[in-house]
Amino acid sequence: MSVDTEAAALVRGSSSSTQGVVWRHRHLLDVDVVSWPEIDLIMRTTDEMKGILARPIRKVPALNGRRVTTLFYEASTRTRVSFETAARNLSADVVSVATATSSVTKGESLVDTIRTLEALGAEILGMRHSVSGAPYLAAEVFGGHVLNGGDGWHAHPTQALLDLYTMRQHLPSGDLRGRKVVIVGDILHSRVARSNIWSLTAAGADLWLCGPATLLRGMDCWATAWDGGAIPGHGRFNVTSDVQEALRDADVVMALRIQRERMQGGLLPSLREYAARFGLNAERVSLAKPEAIVMHPGPMNEGVEIAPDVAVSGRAVITEQVANGVAVRMALLYLLAGAHEAAHAHEAGNPGEASR
Ligand code: CP
Repeated sequence: MSVDTEAAALVRGSSSSTQGVVWRHRHLLDVDVVSWPEIDLIMRTTDEMKGILARPIRKVPALNGRRVTTLFYEASTRTRVSFETAARNLSADVVSVATATSSVTKGESLVDTIRTLEALGAEILGMRHSVSGAPYLAAEVFGGHVLNGGDGWHAHPTQALLDLYTMRQHLPSGDLRGRKVVIVGDILHSRVARSNIWSLTAAGADLWLCGPATLLRGMDCWATAWDGGAIPGHGRFNVTSDVQEALRDADVVMALRIQRERMQGGLLPSLREYAARFGLNAERVSLAKPEAIVMHPGPMNEGVEIAPDVAVSGRAVITEQVANGVAVRMALLYLLAGAHEAAHAHEAGNPGEASR
């Protein structure tokens, strides 16, 4: 099958709600600028990628010859490996930069590193940085596409999208409207929570953020502003330290890691006390609906924010989240690289459009 035919076949599966939706973003830095029809397009494209991953040979030539570079200034297992696996599944050439062994250790700036990688042929950059906003700076100087794999406390858009995809797989009709989604843990330091606020309220979920007051700082102001109709069409979200109220009748429960590496002293008396008061154990999970799913973006601190038996229980979909991360990132690479528009142009009998 030719590249164009393969790409066109991918798009043929799109629902009527996404037909005609054109992907217009050069970068994906957060989900706050992605409209609901565009999120739906990502979800439908991910469905197609899941179809590819179910084949005996999980590889298509959609990004043949395109060059994807990962640049991670912070540790990662899931995000980096799934970016690289996703790129290889689409037949892209992949370069992985480990900053610990790069010229970053000699004092090279982020801007110089980005310019160097571009000069070496990078076209799509999947990056993570400990400083909030770093991918936005990268996007200003890089001539290709930037995919944010997590910046500081700020955003983790690909995680939010794989979380949404996983929830849709488990909720009836894939519809989050009115569904109670609870995120419990270290909200303050969580880029996952911040990106999920945008995507889950866009999906119409009844979102609850729960944790000790010291780890919810600023969220109540945000929730109040949101309630005032900040974003037309978005659902509101709730902020509470009452874990029982949060978990009662929940459809989805997501635990977040206590990020000790980002924590200054005084936010928690001890990890043991946190586990006792907020840790997701079997008794607390039983407050949720019987069919509720349990999620965690990883990496987990078992015995702190989630009990080991809950993490491997029949309700847990944590490894599904990881697996879906490959398909979601394949979809995003495909859309950012312009393959979706190329396929549309091919379907419309105007391949010249594809090269714009
Ligand atoms: N969820 C997540 O970002 O995991 P990694 O830090 O392993 O990439």
